[in-house]
Parts: sequence; structure tokens; C-alpha cells
Amino acid sequence: MSEHILIAVAWPYANGSLHLGHIAGAYLPADIFARYHRLKGDEVLMVSGSDQHGTPITLRAEQENKSPQEIVSRYHQEFLDCWERLGISFDLFTTTGTPNHTQVAHDIFLRLLNKGYIYKDAMPQAYCPQCQRFLPDRYLEGTCPYCHFPEARGDQCDECGRTLNPSDLLDLRCRLCSATPRFEVSEHFFLRLSAFEDRLKSWLRGQAHWRQNVLNFTLGILEGGLKDRAITRDIEWGVAVPQPGFEGKRIYVWFEAVIGYLSASKEWATLRGDAAAWQPFWRNEARSFYFIGKDNIPFHTLIWPAMLMGYESLNLPYDVPANEFLTIEGRRLSTSRNWAVWLPEYLRRYEPDPLRYFLSVSMPETGDADFSWREFLRRNNDELVATYGNLAHRVLTFAHRNFAGVVPASGELDSQDQGLLHKAQTTLGSVDKLLYHCHFKEGIRAAMSLAQEANRYLDDKAPWKTIKQNSQAAATAIYVALSLLSALKTILYPFLPFSSQKLHNFLGFDGKIEAAGWGLQLPLSGQKLPAPQPLFDKLDESIVAEETSRLGCKKLDEP
Ligand code: MF3
Ligand code: ZN
Repeated sequence: MSEHILIAVAWPYANGSLHLGHIAGAYLPADIFARYHRLKGDEVLMVSGSDQHGTPITLRAEQENKSPQEIVSRYHQEFLDCWERLGISFDLFTTTGTPNHTQVAHDIFLRLLNKGYIYKDAMPQAYCPQCQRFLPDRYLEGTCPYCHFPEARGDQCDECGRTLNPSDLLDLRCRLCSATPRFEVSEHFFLRLSAFEDRLKSWLRGQAHWRQNVLNFTLGILEGGLKDRAITRDIEWGVAVPQPGFEGKRIYVWFEAVIGYLSASKEWATLRGDAAAWQPFWRNEARSFYFIGKDNIPFHTLIWPAMLMGYESLNLPYDVPANEFLTIEGRRLSTSRNWAVWLPEYLRRYEPDPLRYFLSVSMPETGDADFSWREFLRRNNDELVATYGNLAHRVLTFAHRNFAGVVPASGELDSQDQGLLHKAQTTLGSVDKLLYHCHFKEGIRAAMSLAQEANRYLDDKAPWKTIKQNSQAAATAIYVALSLLSALKTILYPFLPFSSQKLHNFLGFDGKIEAAGWGLQLPLSGQKLPAPQPLFDKLDESIVAEETSRLGCKKLDEP
């Protein structure tokens, strides 16, 4: 029976380029999951968009002396281009700047206000006497009251991951001039998170299928009790507050950004001409998966669920498979120090599938993972090319040359032939289960071990030897090997969509691989095989030195 699966992916701030940390953290696992479910025949809606508000955007605009809108438009375009080239298959990637988003955000705000889950109160706001301005969260720095990290920001501590209010910080300073801000009182709206503590606790008790780290982190925060949080700010850039007297203020970026999952779903429905089409993804049996990086956990496991509980009638997250961090050459990724591999630059120089391969086999699912160029080269050359690409190329060129460019007819299968075909079936089954449960790393590893097995089979059968005296034996081995390749193109499709599509066509199947479904699609004898080409390129040793030398250097397009 087909299911409705909502795949909600973190909204990247449109204030800078995407890097491998973003991809490994959220976008690649989300895309693998979406492609898997589509292949299974499920109804999938995968949405996200540019997060275009908040201080990350305005800080960047100030640094570049541009308007926030100029910054946002530039990076939104770049994101769209990156999704296309990396094969991240959103059904809609929009922005938080649409009238539709404002309308949906206002609807939620007003319903929560009417139900008493949002209330007005006076809040001390940090004001910098030297800069002569109110300081939004990210313009504030100080020591985290929980873990004593000295560089916590006004809304969150990057070290322990807790969400904070500016007044929680010890030793508070202005990030622009280091002066000590004073607090001035102004009126704001607050989300009554404290009212949801018990409901959140009992809901979380039912989420035993979540990743341990996500669940434990969330329960740890709940243990200390939930404080109400201000959800408006004294700023000009953002979604308007739908209440009189708040014309000079805006809704806090996190409150409206998470609403983007719903507004984007509605926009998608409207765009396809069926305004109600979002509903089956948000109600009843539909399951929703939120793919995010670890620093976004509390917003998706506590704040957004609380908002949904208050709003009523929409599904809470079914799972929040947050990934851990990706380090680069053994060091913590830092965009300000340019210790990062930028996606647009990667895509300018290399193919998408090798990166998707690398980040899948070493995905930071249950612990941090490292990207290094040496390891990237090794995995590309020794695994992707040597194990999978060469297998495909050997079999396809051999078939093309020796069997007049068509799939040969198989003779009787011996136990080794049957064993391998059986292994293909069981791997389809086991990877199905793994992907269903968001175990991506194990999934691709199982697929690669099937490719290894197929290589051993081919070496044993050595059709290039038997072809001379016993062409039927060679034909059977090639038929079995082609069937194996067909299994691999399917199992690897969620991870490596570009090469799977190519292989699908090299095996003589027409059209798009998406239509083939999740199962062993056996080639028919006599099926025409087009002239094959290598699926992957070997990379030259020299890229390791060349690429590592770019790390930590000033980026060319940076101010
Ligand atoms: N823009 C935020 C970040 O990059 C993520 C927002 S996710 C959403 O950390 F939930 F708000 F959509
Ligand atoms: Zn902390």
C-alpha cells in the first residue's frame, strides 16, 4: 500500500554558499530518502526553501553594503542551481519571502494568540550604547550559562546546542564593537512553551524509533524545564507582526522559518492546481521526516511540535533523523576561516555522484564523520571506480563485443549463478529495510558488498576465457552479471541517481529509471545494449594537494 511521506528539509540561510557540512547534514540524506520512497511507489512531498530572514542575513548585508534582498536573491539562485547539479530532488524549494509564507505564518500566530499560547509582555532588549542600536540575537555574544562556552550567541550556544535568550548570557558583549550592551524594555510576544511541557514529554515517550542522540538531547533539555520564548524582535527585516502597535517589529526568524514546512507544502499544492493537495501529507496516516543538522534539533523536536500541538489538527514530526557534524581534514568546519569545501566550487570541478558516494558511505549519522580529499580520492578510485564502475564496464563492453550488442540468452543456471541472483534479491530486501529506517550508511555499504560479490563471481566464471570453447557458459555468466548490474542500478539509485540512470540505459532499458520501481528488473535476452561508456572517472592523485591547499585561504568572491 502506498504511503504519504512528507520530507521536510532544513531551510538554509540565504547568506552564503552551501558547503559539504550542509549536504552531509541534511540535503543528501533527505534526497536519498525521497528517491527511495518514490521508487517504492509512495507519494512523496519534499520541501524546503531559503531562510531569508534573521540576523545572519542582515549581518551579511551590512558587511557587503547591500540590501538584505540583494543578498537573499543571489544565494537563492545559487541554491537552486546547486540542487539541480547535485540532484537534490525537491518538489518545491521556495523562500520565506513569499506572500503565501507570510499568510500561513500569520494564521498560526493568530490561532496561537487566540488560544492563549502566545501572550504579550515587556522584555528587556539589548541596546548597544556605542553603536546606538538595538542588538538582535546574533549581534550578541557572551558566555553560555549552561556549559560556559565563552562565544555563545544571543539565541543559541554552538557548543552545547541549547537555545538561549540574550539576557541569559553571562559577560554579554556587542559583536560589532565589544561594548557592554544595556537592556531597555520593550513590548514583545512570547510563546508559552511552558504550557506544553507535559504534552511534549508524553509525546516523546512514544518516539522510541528516533535516533538515540536526538531523543536524549531533547529529553535533556526538557529535564531542565521549558522557558517561554520571545517570538518578536525590534528589527525591520522579517515577517510583520499581525497586531497593532507592532509595526516597527518583526516575527522572530525561528518562529516563522519552521512554519515554512507548512507554507511550502501549501504553495506546492497551489502551484500544481490543487490547493488541497498538501493535506494528505499533513494529516492522518501520513508520516513526516525532518532532515536537519544537529544544531537545529531543539527547534524541531520541541518548539515546532509545541506550535503544532497548539495549532491542532496537523501531524507532529514522525521522525527527526538529525545528523551530526562533518569535519574537514580532521578539523571542525568553519565558514569564517574558510575551513570548508564549498558546493558550487566542488560542482565546478567534479561530478556529483562521487560526492554523493563519499558522503553516503561516511555519513555523520550517529557520530561526527570526516571529509578529507585523500579519502575522497581513495573512495572514488578504489571503491566507486574499481568495484562498481569497472564491474559495469567489463560486463557491458564484453556483452557488446561478443554478443552482437544484445543481452545473450542464459543457459541453465548452476548453484553459483543462482546464489548470486539470490543475493541480489536479499540485498534489495535488506537495503529496503535499512532505507525505510533512515540507515543510509549501512544501506550503501550493503549495496557495495553486493558489487564486490559480483566481481568475485565474474572472476570465477571468467567468461573471457570460456567464450572460446563454451560460449553458452560465457553467455550465462554475462546474463547473470547483467542482471546483477540491474539490481545495483536500482539499489544504488537513491544514492547515485546520475550513474544509475546511465546504467539503466546501458542495460538496454528505455526511459527514466524512476518508473522501474524497487525490484529486480531482469534484462530480456535479445534486448539491445547501446555502446557503453565508463560510469565514473578515475581522479588524479594531484587533486589532493591542489584541493587541500585551498582550505583556509581567503575565498575569492568574499569581501
Ligand atoms: N536557517 C536555519 C539554519 O541554517 C535552519 C532553519 S530550519 C527551519 O540553521 F526549521 F527553520 F526551517
Ligand atoms: Zn552552552
